[in-house]
Amino acid sequence: MTDQAHRVVLAARPQGEATLDDLRHEAFDPPAPGDGEVALRTIWLSLDPYMRGRMDDAKSYAKPVSLGEVMTGQTVGEVTASNHPDFAPGDIATGMTGWTSHAVMPGDELRKLDPSRAPVQAALGVLGMPGLTAWVGVNDILEAQSGQTLLISAATGAVGTVAGQVAKAKGCRVVGVAGGPEKCDFATSELGYDACIDHHANADGRAMAEAIAKVAPDGVDGYFENVGGKTLAGAIQNMNDFGRIAICGMVAWYGGQNLDQGPMGPVLWRNMLTRKLTARGFIIFDHWHRFPDFLDEVAPMVADGRVSYRESVTEGLEYAPKAFLDMLKGGNFGKTLVRVGADP
Ligand SMILES: NC(=O)c1ccc[n+]([C@@H]2O[C@H](COP(=O)([O-])OP(=O)(O)OC[C@H]3O[C@@H](n4cnc5c(N)ncnc54)[C@H](OP(=O)(O)O)[C@@H]3O)[C@@H](O)[C@H]2O)c1
Repeated sequence: MTDQAHRVVLAARPQGEATLDDLRHEAFDPPAPGDGEVALRTIWLSLDPYMRGRMDDAKSYAKPVSLGEVMTGQTVGEVTASNHPDFAPGDIATGMTGWTSHAVMPGDELRKLDPSRAPVQAALGVLGMPGLTAWVGVNDILEAQSGQTLLISAATGAVGTVAGQVAKAKGCRVVGVAGGPEKCDFATSELGYDACIDHHANADGRAMAEAIAKVAPDGVDGYFENVGGKTLAGAIQNMNDFGRIAICGMVAWYGGQNLDQGPMGPVLWRNMLTRKLTARGFIIFDHWHRFPDFLDEVAPMVADGRVSYRESVTEGLEYAPKAFLDMLKGGNFGKTLVRVGADP
């Protein structure tokens, strides 16, 4: 399917863990752009854990994808036709066009990218939504201070990569949790984490608690929560008095699995009470006003290499469903991207 437009739609609502049968790759004919609209050819598609939630017909902070509808997602694409004064053919832009090779969008919902500033796909990762989420989580939710110990789960993923390096730059001691020795080596040798715990090597919450205590003997002041499960069970036992938890995600539970691995409600509440903790959930949509401040601080760090990052690239939109399901189980290493079309 090289010339024919193609897309991935939601074929069925997952029953528990999502499967390949829940997503369908199909050809379609894109419409012509109307007034104020822009036609794009997709170059990069971002795959993100939140997409799993959109597959369910459940009340959440965003509306679910309908059956037969193109899967939601942010892309970077090349403008092929424009009826909007701010865009011309050849421009590179990012927007929520979805899992599709071609899209028509209102120009007002797109953001033009400057390809000379950074690789354009960085707008989907380190300099985009995941990077902003990390930066807001560390600065505004955890209110991290120099000298504090921070624990960050999914430490080498799109969010964790930036959270760890931003926290380190603030003078924190940073402990990561990641799946496997290779990711942990990367966390300490490339991303500057002071220590990293391999959650595969720790079977349950008690083992995680012991592993965290070993590398954070003075306790944890801030926990950047990305996963839930046994990592949360271990983290909660190591929080210092008046510690803070930024509840960013709980990917271990997104398909309804690992529910027996988290802390029991009473254990969670008792630790919240006796350690006098503050836990705050946040959804990045409420924090977009921080985007310019984030870019001012982090874009130079990316440009001069103080913030490094890794990408997991899958070639071809038809393979996006598999890449997505793999990511939910840790099959990615860094920001998960699909190359949908060639660079101009
Ligand atoms: N609140 C918001 O607005 C917001 C915005 C963006 C992202 N998020 C959340 O932030 C989290 C990270 O997102 P991301 O885009 O950076 O994804 P990511 O970390 O690049 O990919 C997901 C990672 O989750 C880890 N994981 C999966 N199952 C796990 C389990 N059972 N136990 C422990 N870790 C597990 C895997 O890493 P390992 O192999 O290292 O285990 C996997 O690589 C997600 O929960 C996401 O929903 C929230």
